[in-house]
Parts: sequence; structure tokens; C-alpha cells
Amino acid sequence: MEGHAAAAGARINPGWRPGEQLYAGAVELDAIKSVLRPFGPGDRDDLVETANDRRVWRNLTARFPHPYTLQDADQWIARCAQEGEPTRNFAIEVEGRVVGGIGLELLEGEKQHVANVGYWIGHDWWNRGIVTDALRVFVAYAFDTFPVERLQATVFGWNPASARVLEKCGFQREGCLHGAISKAEETTDELWYGLLRPPPRA
Ligand SMILES: CC(C)(COP(=O)(O)OP(=O)(O)OC[C@H]1O[C@@H](n2cnc3c(N)ncnc32)[C@H](O)[C@@H]1OP(=O)(O)O)[C@@H](O)C(=O)NCCC(=O)NCCS
Repeated sequence: MEGHAAAAGARINPGWRPGEQLYAGAVELDAIKSVLRPFGPGDRDDLVETANDRRVWRNLTARFPHPYTLQDADQWIARCAQEGEPTRNFAIEVEGRVVGGIGLELLEGEKQHVANVGYWIGHDWWNRGIVTDALRVFVAYAFDTFPVERLQATVFGWNPASARVLEKCGFQREGCLHGAISKAEETTDELWYGLLRPPPRA
């Protein structure tokens, strides 16, 4: 069977190592070259510059800190390195800088066939199609690489851009938990999205 990643028309670079030239796997987006590749120690400054932003933090779970410090960046980069291979969390790199991230968390026990998906990108890069493109490639990579049958994501009710990204990538809106999220002293709904592994192509 042809890999999902190949079908997506874009490539991911799980084998990238800090210091390597990595444009062999670039994803072309409106004249912006975007690459998904593992985080490395050299990313700490870029990470802080883009992640230390309330507009990003407001839409993410409490695991994403604010303010986002160099220490937070170091901890995140170290955690990603500890996870080993296959890579679960990728940096989104545009024009040679890390501007965001996309990744998954494998669940356990009766949900060991399920993974939570998450992503973010710096405000300067919003609404340029970058995360939609990244998620399309990442979904293909996830189903090709991990023994998961279901990818899922939750979205805060005030975040239609994220809901739209998921829908553009084939996720179905499965439910709404009314008033389930409280962040920055405001309450909103929690939207649930899911995508089952596609059947093998004949
Ligand atoms: C949500 C987020 C990841 C989207 O990334 P992005 O690269 O800007 O997304 P894209 O450009 O690929 O797509 C955004 C889509 O949402 C749409 N959109 C943006 N703002 C919108 C709004 N207020 N209402 C409805 N649609 C909106 C865009 O028009 C676009 O859809 P289209 O292609 O049909 O026009 C980004 O805004 C972000 O990182 N936000 C902060 C962190 C976050 O929310 N992470 C996700 C948590 S679930």
C-alpha cells in the first residue's frame, strides 16, 4: 500500500538532526517553505519568541506555560529528545525558524489505540494555511508510524480557526461539552473532534 504520507503530497523529516540542511523535505505553501522536523537544542530562542504569547496560550491546555521562558523551552526540547523515535512532536519550521509545533500523545490502557493531537503556531503566521498543511502531513505520518486507529483533538469553543483546521483535514466534530473549559477567567465549550484510520486503499 502506498504510504499516506506520500499521498498527502508533502513530506515529513523525522530523521532530521540539529545542524543538518533540511530542505529536501520542504512542504511548499504559498511561496513559504515549511518543514516538520524534530526539535533541537538550537530552537530555544525561536520557541520562546513565538510561544510566549497570550494569544497562543489562551487556546491551549494548562500544560502550555505562560509566560513561556527559556527554561520552558529547554524542558520541552529535552522531553522531546527523551521520547526518542519515532518522533511524536515536531517543530514547524518556516524560513529557517521554528514558528510552531505539532504532535501527538499516545494514550494507554483501554485507549492504547488512540492518540491526542495538538498543534500551535505563532501569531505572525496565522491564517496562511500552514497548520492545515502540517496537520494533513502529520495525520498521514501518525497513521503510517504508530499503531493507532483513532486521532482526536479538543478545541476551545472560542477557537473557530482550530475547528476549521481539523475539519479541513477530515476530522469529524463529534460533540460539544458545554461550559467545560475555563481559561483566562472566561468559560467556553469544549469541542471534540475525531478521525478514524482510513481503510487501506485497494
Ligand atoms: C488554530 C491555529 C493552529 C490555526 O493555524 P493556522 O496556520 O492559522 O490555520 P490555517 O491557516 O491552516 O487555517 C485556518 C482556518 O481557519 C479560518 N479562520 C480563522 N479565523 C477564523 C474565525 N474567527 N472564524 C472562522 N474561521 C476562521 C481561516 O479562514 C482558515 O480557514 P480557510 O482556509 O477555510 O479560510 C492557530 O491559530 C494557533 O496556533 N492558534 C493558537 C493555538 C491553538 O489554537 N492551537 C490549537 C488548539 S486546539
